[in-house]
Amino acid sequence: MSDKPLLVTCGLPYTNGPCHIGHLRTYVPADFYVRYMRRVGEKVVFICGSDNHGTPIVISAEQEGLSPRELSERYHEHFDRTFQQMRVAFDRFGMTDDVTNHRMTQSIVQRLIDSGYVYAQTISQSYCPDCSRFLPDRYVEGICPYCGAIARGDECDQGCGQHLEPGEIKDAICKVCGAKAEYRDQEHYFFRLSGFRDSLLAYLPRLKGTSNARNYAIGWVKEALHDWCITRTLDWGVPFPGRDDLVVYVWVDAPIGYISFTKEWAERAGEDWKEYWCGDNRVTHFIGGDIIYHHCIFWPALLEGAGYGRPHAVVASGMLMIEDKKFSKSRGYVVWTNEDYLDQGLPADYLRYYLLAYTSHTKELNFSWHILQERVNNELVNTLGNFIYRTLHFAEKAFSGVPDRSADPAILEEIERSLAAVDQAMREYDFKNAVDSMMALAAFGNTYIQNNAPWKVIKSDPDAAGQIIRNCLQIVKALALVTEPVMPDAAQRVWEMLGHADGVGAHLIGEATTPLTPRPLPTPAPLFAKLDDDKIQELEGVLARRVEEAKSRAADAAKTVPFDTFASLDIRIGRILSAAPIPGSKKLYKLQIDIGDGQRQVVAGIAGFYTPEELAGKDVAIVVNLEPAKIFGVESRGMILAAGDEASLLAPARPVKPGTRVR
Ligand code: 2FM
Ligand code: ZN
Repeated sequence: MSDKPLLVTCGLPYTNGPCHIGHLRTYVPADFYVRYMRRVGEKVVFICGSDNHGTPIVISAEQEGLSPRELSERYHEHFDRTFQQMRVAFDRFGMTDDVTNHRMTQSIVQRLIDSGYVYAQTISQSYCPDCSRFLPDRYVEGICPYCGAIARGDECDQGCGQHLEPGEIKDAICKVCGAKAEYRDQEHYFFRLSGFRDSLLAYLPRLKGTSNARNYAIGWVKEALHDWCITRTLDWGVPFPGRDDLVVYVWVDAPIGYISFTKEWAERAGEDWKEYWCGDNRVTHFIGGDIIYHHCIFWPALLEGAGYGRPHAVVASGMLMIEDKKFSKSRGYVVWTNEDYLDQGLPADYLRYYLLAYTSHTKELNFSWHILQERVNNELVNTLGNFIYRTLHFAEKAFSGVPDRSADPAILEEIERSLAAVDQAMREYDFKNAVDSMMALAAFGNTYIQNNAPWKVIKSDPDAAGQIIRNCLQIVKALALVTEPVMPDAAQRVWEMLGHADGVGAHLIGEATTPLTPRPLPTPAPLFAKLDDDKIQELEGVLARRVEEAKSRAADAAKTVPFDTFASLDIRIGRILSAAPIPGSKKLYKLQIDIGDGQRQVVAGIAGFYTPEELAGKDVAIVVNLEPAKIFGVESRGMILAAGDEASLLAPARPVKPGTRVR
């Protein structure tokens, strides 16, 4: 055990949507780890909060007619409540928009400026001439400069996955109004990340946690390290020191939230937050595998630059699949923690068990209702629950409680072996193995009681039956203590059924082998209930319907044209200067059209409806950015718009100058 306290954090959820089990894939293991470390005597502080800044939140708030603060408060409370229901028990759950974090962020950024790690540079940024504003991050969409895929302003989300710096995106279009963005010069501030290459290469191999985080980060640093633009032109966020037109990039003030929330906790607890963040520390970040870059590269560099200690460990979870499909809110492959799980009356313990025991922490985890049912019914109900209930029931019925005797040394050794296996797995952040070792102890207990059949032995040898059940009770005690970090509610019920009045969480796992004093036991109740087929089918139905709805939404959307597509058409009013027949064609005319900034030759199939004289001088609508084509050997660069079989030409209702845009 170290003399330094452990500080465990979880990636902060954005406040623009509800909690889903993808979130829980990080929070449940973190809570498991915290509870376990406390149960083995460590001092642990568990910190999290909501991530309130950034463009997605501003955009969602605009859509909902709320201020970003109002939206953030709504989801902040939602997450806070949901975590409590899932028994994820943070010591502090703060908000990045709160004053502590504004101050902390500004002071850290100021330190970075003072020590030369932040510099100003003028960059060419996308700007919407129609909205008269710069377009940060999600306000802009365009073409990825690295792979050519359609990308968001801050990330090539559909292509190569590259993080995009402001101004990098090509052919940008404003997401608010669909107008083609311009590029304008603007002064921004950059964090000198490139200067941290050597120190990161020395630090990362020693970083504790899971190897996926470490290896990914080392690979990245070896490849390329670019300076980061840490300012945005936005009204929502932490103002950049000395500039009222810029805020700090969300990925700066979000991790600083970890420090701010520690400070908020420390102030209430009468502790010193600096002890947790300065110099050598035991800061352990639990994160999703998609934000390793931010936590293992950007964040340690920022901390080093500002004079703080760097994280001790980063534990990164693998991705989530839903019924073998990639998790996707838009495609309906999502399980909402409240609507689909807790509100259905399902216990937090079952989901916690599944998330911890089904797959190794760093691997992809598939969530399936059917597998949840299987695991709960076979492992929790038939093995763990069954053993505990049989033991307690028999002890109470035959002995009215705990018989007055000691557990056999062989049983105590078996418990010790199990606890050692659990402990080793926990030190390696191998949560699945830890839970498997706990379940192996339950399986041992089940086999032991079955093979020794105290209900038979009691008929001929009550004393021997008393010893058998005493041994089983010792295993039950061990299981209550060691499974508390996985399933706190069930463990508490077992603890109470063992005749204790206090909380199991107040005890150390090491007490698993200390004697159980003789005492009467209450009538036990079964620990877990099976998940029945009807319920599982109902829940599978909810998911299937959601996927179908998403498919039909996507099909509807495919029939419509996004505004961006429409806005990309350059339609203008043009004046026909002349029309001439094309030799060999009865239908076609070659038209010369004045389009304001020049003249266009267009081939149009209107010869049957107008004479060349009728057409000359007419104003028509023309698409000028159509791909050039050769029609009857004549080049055509545009298309005039006409209605119906008689090709009635579209003309402006009031006179406008040639070249005027149609919108
Ligand atoms: O990726 C996310 O969901 C972010 N909101 C996580 C932030 S974690 C941190 F660094 F604060
Ligand atoms: Zn790309």
